[in-house]
Amino acid sequence: MTPETVNLDKIVALCKRRGFVFQSAEIYAGLNGVYDFGPLGTQLRNNIKSLWLKHMTQWPEEVVQMDGSILGSGQVWEASGHLKNFSDPLVDCTNCKKRYRADDVDLARVCPSCGIKAWTDVRQFQLMFETNLGAMADSASKAYLRPETAQAIFINFKNVFSSCRVKMPFGIAQIGKAFRNEITPKQFLFRLREFEQMEMEFFCKNETTAAHFFDLWIERRRMFYQDLGIDANKLRIRPHEADELSHYSRGTVDYEYNFPFGWKELEGIANRGDFDLSQHSKHSGKELAVFDEETKSSYVPHVVECSVGVDRLFLTLLFDAYQEDEVEGEVRTTLKLSPKIAPVKAAVLSLVKKLNEPAEKLYTSLKQAGFAVQFDDSGSIGKRYRRQDEIGTPVCFTVDFETLDDNCVTARNRDTLVQARIGLDNVEEYLRKMLE
Ligand code: GAP
Repeated sequence: MTPETVNLDKIVALCKRRGFVFQSAEIYAGLNGVYDFGPLGTQLRNNIKSLWLKHMTQWPEEVVQMDGSILGSGQVWEASGHLKNFSDPLVDCTNCKKRYRADDVDLARVCPSCGIKAWTDVRQFQLMFETNLGAMADSASKAYLRPETAQAIFINFKNVFSSCRVKMPFGIAQIGKAFRNEITPKQFLFRLREFEQMEMEFFCKNETTAAHFFDLWIERRRMFYQDLGIDANKLRIRPHEADELSHYSRGTVDYEYNFPFGWKELEGIANRGDFDLSQHSKHSGKELAVFDEETKSSYVPHVVECSVGVDRLFLTLLFDAYQEDEVEGEVRTTLKLSPKIAPVKAAVLSLVKKLNEPAEKLYTSLKQAGFAVQFDDSGSIGKRYRRQDEIGTPVCFTVDFETLDDNCVTARNRDTLVQARIGLDNVEEYLRKMLE
C-alpha cells in the first residue's frame, strides 16, 4: 500500500473511526447538515476555543467575554438587516425536483442531477430558522435562532460598557452556536445548518481608528493561525470585491484555506463601521452612543469584527495535519496537530501487561497534574503507536523492564519518531515544555 494525498472521504472516515465526529441521528438515517462530536472531537474543539480566547485576550486593549441567547426576537433581526438581506438565491429543477443554490449551478446548462434543463426562476430563500415562543403561533410570538453570534454583542454593548468599567477601544468576544438553513449543506463540517462561531467585535472611536484596528486584527489573526501550526502556503488573505460585501460591511477580508475542494473562506474580518449600533439605536429608540470626555461630545462607536467557525477551523486543522507515510511496508496515518490543540497530549503504554502497575501509576499522576492522557496496554507496541499517531498524540511514554531499574521511560515523538529515555520525574516537565 502506498500513501495517498488527503481527501474528504479519508477525513470523514477517520473522524468516525476514532470518535471525533458522528453524523447526527445516524441510527435514524442521519440529519443533513448537522453533526455530533465524540470524545476526541469535543476535546479538540475545547482546545481550539481556549487558544482562540487566548489570542483574543492577550493584547494591550481589553477584550471581555459574553454569552448571549440563541433565541432572538424578530426586532433584533429586523434592525440588523438579516430579515431583509440574509438569504441565498434558490433554484429548483422542475424535472427531478432537486434544489440548488443558484450560484452553485450554471443556469445556462442542464441540471447536474438529471441532465435536463428545466429551471424555475431564481428566488430568495431566507436562511434564518423561525420558531414561536409560547403557545400562540402568531406574528407577536415569532422568534429566530441566531444566524450569527454578533448581534447579541451589539444589543448588549451599552450593558457591558456601563457595567464593566471598560474603556474605549475594547472588544467583546463570544463563542456560541449559530444556525442557518443552508440550502445545500456540504463538504462535511464546511457548511452546516448548526455550527459554532467564535466572534469578537472590537469597538473604537471613528473611521480612522477602525481602519487602524482592522489592519491590526488581520495581522493578529495571522499570528493565531501560525500558532496553530497551519501551513502558511495554504493560507491566504482575500479582500472582498465591492459587490460581494455584506450589507453591513465597509471592507472585509477573508482568510482562505486551500482545501482539497479549493480555496475557501475560513475566517472573515470586517470593518462594520457604525452600522450595527446605529441600526439598533434607531430601531430600539435607545441611545447607544458613548460620551468622549476629551471632546465633550457623544459618538457611535465603529466596529471591527473577527469571525470564524469552530467547525470550519476544526475541519481545516484536520486537513492540514493529516499525513500518510510508509513505515515498514505499511501506511502510517498521522495527525500532525500542534501539541497545544491535540486532544490527547500523551499516551502511557506498558510494554507487557506485567508492567501495568508502574505504567498506570504514571498515567494517574499525569491525569492528576491536569494532562489529557490515555493509557493503552492492548496490541503490539507498533500498533499502539499507530493508534496514537492517528489521533495526533504528540508523544508516547513506554514503560519497559528497564524502567524498574533506571526509573526512566522511552519517550517516542510522533513527528520525528525519535525515541529518548527520560526520567519518570521529568515526564511532567517534558510535557509542559512541549505545550509551551
Ligand atoms: N458575523 C459575521 C458572520 O457571521 P459569515 O462570513 O457569515 O460572517 C463567519 O460567517 C464565519 O462563520 C465563516 O468564516 C465560517 O468560518 C463560519 N460559518 C459561516 N457559515 C457557516 C456554516 N453554514 N457552516 C459552518 N461554518 C460557517
